[in-house]
Parts: sequence; structure tokens; C-alpha cells
Amino acid sequence: MDFKTLVVGTAGLSAVAADALVVVVVGQQVPGTLEAPLADLLGAAIKRADFAFKPQQTLLLHDAVGVKAARLLFVAGGDGSAKSWRKAVTAAVASLKSGGTQRMVLAWVGETGDQSGASLGPAHAQALVMAAEEAVYVYRATKPSAPAAPALKTLLLACTQAQSTSLGAALLQGKAIAAGTALARECANLPANVCTPTYLADEARKLGKQPGLKVEVLERKDCEKLGMGSFLAVAQGSDEPLKFIVMKWLGGNKADAPVVLVGKGITFDTGGISLKSAPEMDEMKFDMGGAASVLGTMATVSQLKLKLNVVGIVAACENMPSGRAVKPGDVVTSMSGQTIEILNTDAEGRLILCDALTYAERFKPAVVVDIATLTGACVVALGHHRSGLFSNDDALAAALLAAGEATADPAWRMPLDEEYDEALKSNFADMGNVGGRAGGAITAAKFLHRFTARQQWAHLDIAGTGWKSGLAKGSTGRPVPLLTRFLIDRAG
Ligand code: BES
Ligand code: MN
Ligand code: ZN
Repeated sequence: MDFKTLVVGTAGLSAVAADALVVVVVGQQVPGTLEAPLADLLGAAIKRADFAFKPQQTLLLHDAVGVKAARLLFVAGGDGSAKSWRKAVTAAVASLKSGGTQRMVLAWVGETGDQSGASLGPAHAQALVMAAEEAVYVYRATKPSAPAAPALKTLLLACTQAQSTSLGAALLQGKAIAAGTALARECANLPANVCTPTYLADEARKLGKQPGLKVEVLERKDCEKLGMGSFLAVAQGSDEPLKFIVMKWLGGNKADAPVVLVGKGITFDTGGISLKSAPEMDEMKFDMGGAASVLGTMATVSQLKLKLNVVGIVAACENMPSGRAVKPGDVVTSMSGQTIEILNTDAEGRLILCDALTYAERFKPAVVVDIATLTGACVVALGHHRSGLFSNDDALAAALLAAGEATADPAWRMPLDEEYDEALKSNFADMGNVGGRAGGAITAAKFLHRFTARQQWAHLDIAGTGWKSGLAKGSTGRPVPLLTRFLIDRAG
């Protein structure tokens, strides 16, 4: 889809040529700034009780008198915040996407200086792109009968001449973020018999064709040489070869310490010998969502040519039961030298991440952020709206939280008190890999912290936000928006 700004001339919105004109009405009354034919049409609908400014409420009119666009859609835009606007855009695209609309013009109208003081800005432009691309996404890789792609081709954001430059730039940036999010989403939606560790490595190599992005893939033998006993233990039960993927974007100065992103890439999590139960086990194909978000973020970073250094690391393998699989009670030696008693083979994410986090040290990172569908406990704690954020650095935590708020990809900070560490005690190794049911998301983070104590580190548990279950089952592509916004802000 194409996104552009449209400077509206003196004749106003009613003279705009489009298949559909979408008017997002901010506030609780017909704005005084809304030109006559539009204000009259809206006023008449309100009188007939067909429109009442309920957030995301829509009103579709065809061949409206005095309006050039064939379709006119009013959408209630709530308080005009980027968040409300995003929901309004989603509602607008949802109501028009199955029809013949190819060229859509979207306008923000509302009283300036109303309670919220909101007005159209770059955050709205970006939210528009994200919402529209998300709304028209159709998974079809393994479903030939999927509905045809919507006819919608061009989306124009109505604005003034003065707004046009900054909004145009925001649209372009939004487009790159949406592309990275879509890549992550598509990758995670693929079934585990397609999206294997080898597939992820091939996707990374494809990204590596972008100028400036270097990709290296380590094989099992390389990981053995590095002493990644923990990662290898998880991978040993599977016939699919493991892949350890390293992507480097060097857009900053040579001497600048990089941001390192580390993604959990379990392409299928059966639980291993600590086998999961059958219901919903299919959803464990999404257990590489962290890895997918690292791939998607690297795609966006290279597309935007961000002026900073970013290293993306993905540890990818399957977690399977077999005659060769790791068993409860087995003790392994991680790359850091610390030994781990694997009490539960289903707590495999932390076992692959700990070695990846140790490997990350070689880049002398400014900060390390790992992303993982790590614990069911995080879903219990935060549900499906906010990702769990853990960090040993307040400034880093604040920056990540702000990036999430700005992109409607929110996170919530969770604690890392030393008291939680006790749960990981083992009689047979430096630590166990599980700490019991209580505070499960936190003890998982504490486990990772044992491998990152020397670094500025954050951990995003996306178990509840990486994908949706039920009728809308599918990947969300999160947290690519949060990560890319964090990196864009850092690049300055
Ligand atoms: N991939 C799962 C986490 C998960 C489970 C995400 C359900 C979303 C929904 C992870 O590998 C796992 O199995 N974690 C265990 C840890 C436990 C054994 C300490 C869990 O959460 O049950
Ligand atoms: Mn597991
Ligand atoms: Zn898992």
C-alpha cells in the first residue's frame, strides 16, 4: 500500500477526489471547523440517532450530496490521541476493505484546543500506517483459499501545507516499521514444518542481501566449540539442525557500542520430555516470536538506514522429546561456565537464551535486549495487552516503556529483587532452570539475569502479546513497533 500526504485546497474535503473520504471526527460534537456539506450530513445523522460519537462508531454514506468522493465515512475519533485515532483508522479500513475502494483519503477533524488539546501529528501518521497495514494483512502462505487481498492501494492523509513535510516523513518511517512488523508476523504464522531453524537462517540470509547488513549463521559444531552446552541440550532432542544466527547492522561509528537484540527462536515447543498437554499445543509454533521480532526489527533498521550499530542474535532450534532428548535432572554447562540442572525441559527458552546472552558479551554492547515468548506466568500476570519488561537499568527500562507507549505496543515493568533468586537454588548445579509456580515470569527473568549481571540489559516477555488465540489466532508481529521506535529514538 502507498501512503502519502494530501494538502487539501481551499475547496475543502468535499471537493477531494477519492473512492472513499474518511472523516475522523474528534470530540463529542460536530466540529465548528467542519465545512458545510459534511457538517450538515453529520448533523442530520445525529438527529436521526444514527451517530453518537461513540469511539470507533462509523457512518457510511454513498453519493452524498455536495461531496465528490463516492463514499463518505465518518468515524468517531474519541479524544484524538494517537491511540484513539489508531482505533478509528482500524474501524475505517475494516468497514471499507472488502469493497471497491482503491484510493482512500483520511482526514482528522476536531476542535483544536479541546480538552485533550490533541491535534494531528507524526504519531498519528505512523499509527495510520500501522493500523492500515495490519488491517489489510491476509495470511495465505499455506492457505490458497484465503480471501483475495483488499483493493485498497493508496491511502492519503489530508493535511495543511505546513504539516505536509513532517507527516510525510512519519508516513515513510511508519511504512518501514509496518514492513518489519509484517515480516515478523508472517514468519511466526508459518507452521513449524515450514518455519524451521533452517528457514529462519535462510530468512536472515535474505535480509543479509541488504547493503550494510551482515549475516552469519553458526551451526551445531560451532556452538559446540563455543561451549554452548545449554543451547545444545535443548536442541539435542530434535532432528532439525539448530541455527545460531548473527545479524550486524553497522550504521553508526565504528567505535560505537552496539545495541544487541537477542531473540528466542524455538520453532516448536513440545515441552520436550516434560511434555506439554495436547490442547493448544499447535500454538507453540509461535514460540519463535522473539526471533521473528529480531528479524523484523533488523529489516526495518536497515531499510531506514539508522545511524547506529545494531546486532541481532537468534538462537533457533526445536524442543522435542526423543531418545536423545535432555532429561529432567540432567546437568549441563552453559557457555558462561555456570552449570544448570534442567529440572523441567519445558523451561527451554531460558536455556537457549542464556548462551545467546553470553555470546552477546563479545560485542561489548551498550545495551542488550532479549525478546522471548518465555512464560505462561507472564500471560497470567499481564494478559494479552502489555508485554512484561524486566531490566537492571532504570534509564533503559524507561526508554523501552516510552517506545511502547508511543507505538501502541505497550509493556509493563516487573521486578527483579534478589529475593526472587532463591527459587533457582539447586543441590546439584549452580542453579536449576525453574523456580516453581509462584512469580514464574520473574524467576525466569532472574535466571537470565545471572547471565547478564555485567551488562545493561532488558528482557521482554512477549508470551501474552506475541500472538492471539481463538478465532483471531495469529501472530501480532509485536514487539517490532516498540523495538524499532526505541532504536529510532536512540539513533537521534
Ligand atoms: N513457550 C513457553 C511459554 C508459553 C506457554 C508461552 C504458554 C505462551 C503460552 C515456555 O517455553 C514454557 O513452556 N514455559 C513454561 C515454564 C515452566 C515449565 C517453568 C511455562 O510457562 O509453563
Ligand atoms: Mn517450553
Ligand atoms: Zn517455549
